[in-house]
Amino acid sequence: MNVSGEATRSFWMLDTSFPNAPRLEQDEQCDVAVIGAGIAGVSVAYELALAGRKVVLVDRGPLLGGMTSRTTAHLAPICDDGLSALVKMRGEALARGFQQSQEAAVDCIEQHVGRLEIDCDFRRLDGFLFPAAWMDENEAARECNKEYAAAAKIGVEVEHGKGVALKGHEKAPILRYPNQATFHPLKYLRALLADFQKRGGKAFADSAVVEIEEGKQVRLKCDGGSVVTASNAVFATNSPINTWVKIHSKMAPFRTYAMAFDIERGILPDALYWDMDDPYFYVRLNPGPGETDCLIAGGRDHKSGEADDGEARFTALEAWIRALVPDLGRERARWSGQVLDTIDYCGFIGRSPGNGNVFIATGDSGQGMTHGALAGLLIRDLIVEGSNPWEAVYAPDRTPPAAFAQYVNENLTTVKNLAGYLLPGEIKSADDLKPGEGGILQDGLSKLAVCRERDGKLHRHSASCTHLGCIVHWNSTEQCWDCPCHGSQFSPDGTVLNGPAIRPLASPAGEA
Ligand SMILES: Cc1cc2nc3c(=O)[nH]c(=O)nc-3n(C[C@H](O)[C@H](O)[C@H](O)COP(=O)(O)OP(=O)(O)OC[C@H]3O[C@@H](n4cnc5c(N)ncnc54)[C@H](O)[C@@H]3O)c2cc1C
Ligand code: FES
Repeated sequence: MNVSGEATRSFWMLDTSFPNAPRLEQDEQCDVAVIGAGIAGVSVAYELALAGRKVVLVDRGPLLGGMTSRTTAHLAPICDDGLSALVKMRGEALARGFQQSQEAAVDCIEQHVGRLEIDCDFRRLDGFLFPAAWMDENEAARECNKEYAAAAKIGVEVEHGKGVALKGHEKAPILRYPNQATFHPLKYLRALLADFQKRGGKAFADSAVVEIEEGKQVRLKCDGGSVVTASNAVFATNSPINTWVKIHSKMAPFRTYAMAFDIERGILPDALYWDMDDPYFYVRLNPGPGETDCLIAGGRDHKSGEADDGEARFTALEAWIRALVPDLGRERARWSGQVLDTIDYCGFIGRSPGNGNVFIATGDSGQGMTHGALAGLLIRDLIVEGSNPWEAVYAPDRTPPAAFAQYVNENLTTVKNLAGYLLPGEIKSADDLKPGEGGILQDGLSKLAVCRERDGKLHRHSASCTHLGCIVHWNSTEQCWDCPCHGSQFSPDGTVLNGPAIRPLASPAGEA
């Protein structure tokens, strides 16, 4: 198991270590406490430090070790559910606000890169939307026309085109979106963290927030017993740990897969590519040393906990990209991670419902890089100025009527999962488990989550997720328990890896 908790290592982890930070061993008092040091938390902490606020940043694990270390880092302002879907769901004015704010987030990253001279391969490039494998030319042209029309309505720069340098698509109808961007996310964020600390910001790793007391001053107790007291708190924990239901019932966790391969420079133009499938596949390049670059491909998403066939998904992903780029070289890395899709395609960034001085940043779907940078701008403005021009787009208390069907659909997962308590277990005995396997065992009236680590060590815990009690599912690719309801993850020994859960999986009833 690697430092970020899951079993696989992303491409970025191959050549970049996580920044060092001490554990919180003393109480701290500050203007703003930021919980979670991924791109959202680091961006918020940094913007507030630039604005002169005294900021304390705490993380349960290593800084940058969450989903940010597992991204593929397209910096694409285009809504990844499609502009036509976004306009239909949010209307033209809010969809335009979404686009402008996402563009502002990329501009902000670019400015920080320039000002701090960060060596992180940031570059502007084109994004190409190309047909899904199953589409014929007419179908693809219809899709292009639909997306082009939506783009025109909200002022997105886009061009019709013919063909991309991917096999079988040399003459296909495509759309070209100029002025997208990409970078090395960990190199960028390490530099932001260093400047944050130089400006007096404090960052602590291995310090999980386990108790939250809201009020005029927010008190956050960490697992070592130290307390951070702050006038404002920002929960940037990927999935918020300060709200139990209101936000989690409006988004759903999806597991997504990525692979990196060597590619000789020049075989594929440097650009972002994503197809018209749903869920979509995507491709980008990363400059390598010498004449060999790296191609990163991703896709094959599924709802978390609803499949445990990671190896088959990697095989399908590899077959897909090798068919498009036959001269691809050897594999460098394969990994998966989780994204949170909201019912109306936009993240929840702003005041936590019912709280004036508590803020959240979550639900950023496959666009967490831009959402994270945007959270820095939006939450900084809400704290420093009291408002931001885009706050309605991301308001956490919204439930647009047009999203009602999605809302019902997402919450059926919880209903179906809880009904699982009435079904028999998946395994008859712990003896059935080989190293690396896990399953749900019926134990009297209880359900147990039982797994055997790859070194043979057996673990038994209650299978009830400590967030709202759904039954967890074994993820053999990442060697952890995933909760399908709202995305909590637990390691084999029951430790929380991802919220909204705060507490570890319980020991079986009657066992210590
Ligand atoms: C395979 C993959 C590909 C992706 N590709 C893209 C892409 O191309 N473009 C894009 O824009 N987005 C992409 N995303 C999405 C994006 O990476 C994420 O949405 C984004 O990194 C989330 O950042 P975050 O800061 O919200 O969360 P995280 O990076 O997960 O940070 C949250 C932090 O909170 C900490 N934390 C949690 N609970 C506590 C607690 N109780 N106390 C203290 N700390 C706590 C965690 O340890 C973690 O470090 C991708 C995601 C995946 C998995
Ligand atoms: S994450 Fe909500 S019940 Fe598990």
